[in-house]
Amino acid sequence: MEKAPINILGIETSCDETAAAVVADGKTVKSSVIASQTKLHEKYGGVVPEIASRAHIENIYPVIAEAMAQADVTEKSVHAIAVANQPGLTVALMVGVTAAKTLSFAWGKPLIAINHLHAHLQSAMLAEEGLQLPAVALIVSGGHTCLYDCESPLELKLLGRCLDDAAGEAFDKVAAILKLPYPGGPAIEEIAKDGNPGAVDFPRSMLGPDSLDFSFSGIKTAVLYHCRGQDMKGQNRVDSMSKQKIADIAASFQAAMIDVLVRKTQRAAQKVAAKTILLGGGVAANTVLRSALQQMCKSSVPTRKLLVAPKEYCTDNAVMVASLACHKYKAGLFADLTLEPKATG
Ligand code: KG4
Ligand code: ZN
Repeated sequence: MEKAPINILGIETSCDETAAAVVADGKTVKSSVIASQTKLHEKYGGVVPEIASRAHIENIYPVIAEAMAQADVTEKSVHAIAVANQPGLTVALMVGVTAAKTLSFAWGKPLIAINHLHAHLQSAMLAEEGLQLPAVALIVSGGHTCLYDCESPLELKLLGRCLDDAAGEAFDKVAAILKLPYPGGPAIEEIAKDGNPGAVDFPRSMLGPDSLDFSFSGIKTAVLYHCRGQDMKGQNRVDSMSKQKIADIAASFQAAMIDVLVRKTQRAAQKVAAKTILLGGGVAANTVLRSALQQMCKSSVPTRKLLVAPKEYCTDNAVMVASLACHKYKAGLFADLTLEPKATG
């Protein structure tokens, strides 16, 4: 007799997406529902925690109900409830954690706590059967930039992280300086297609020959200086710049960011003699980054494999939460009703 699949309901509210998904056996996506709050935050140029929290409260139950309905499952056919409880905005995480604890108690189903960053990494492994080790993972999101030595989906050793602005944050802030729409990453990628990546030589902060940490605040400041003059006394000149000039700045900024991300990943890959490189997180949606990493793999160790999260699972979603939770379910790693949200992780 065929074994019944392990259905897990995943919940994600760490930032500005309210998401729920049902995934069977960690691989088969039965549903994925996302209520995006981009419209609510765009006039502020970034996520406002209180607004995010309130929108999560309004959206969470309709989103979960929709995910259950689309997957055609009931509480009886769900094996566990998984929730991203760290890292993220505490007031946002709180909404998902409270919903997950409530459902776990009411339905009598186990609760699984998921690290949001580890879940981003899982997105890159969704379609993979046998992960070739050693593997290095680059997670680039709005709040984090991390390199991990990945032993398995549940065993991750942090190799390096951002010391100031995360990669996505730098994209968002530079987009704001260039008066491009929020979120900045997709807007910069779009306009950069028409720009010259060699037009402006923005700094590449490598933090010493062996460092695997990242620092992106310098490049953001360099873009600001470029637009306002070195003494910062001038007005932001973006309004009087041609579209071509803005495209050149965007392309040059994107090239510098990608250069650093690729070189640091190569460093980490060399250090652990990686056979596989995994890429996940919102910035992983960037096509230029994806092909630059592919190129690096090809030219360094041709057998090295790059596994990239599918575009629809790069930015925040609950599929990655439910998928990673399947590994924890099989390992019996459950949380209890004292689970709390945590800003760091
Ligand atoms: O992972 P994510 O959805 O949320 C966090 O966990 O932070 O990442 C959102 C970030 C934003 O900063 C957004 O600008 C960036 O990912 N992003 C991109 C692209 N698409 C989204 N950055 C560069 N290029 C893109 N195509
Ligand atoms: Zn994220």
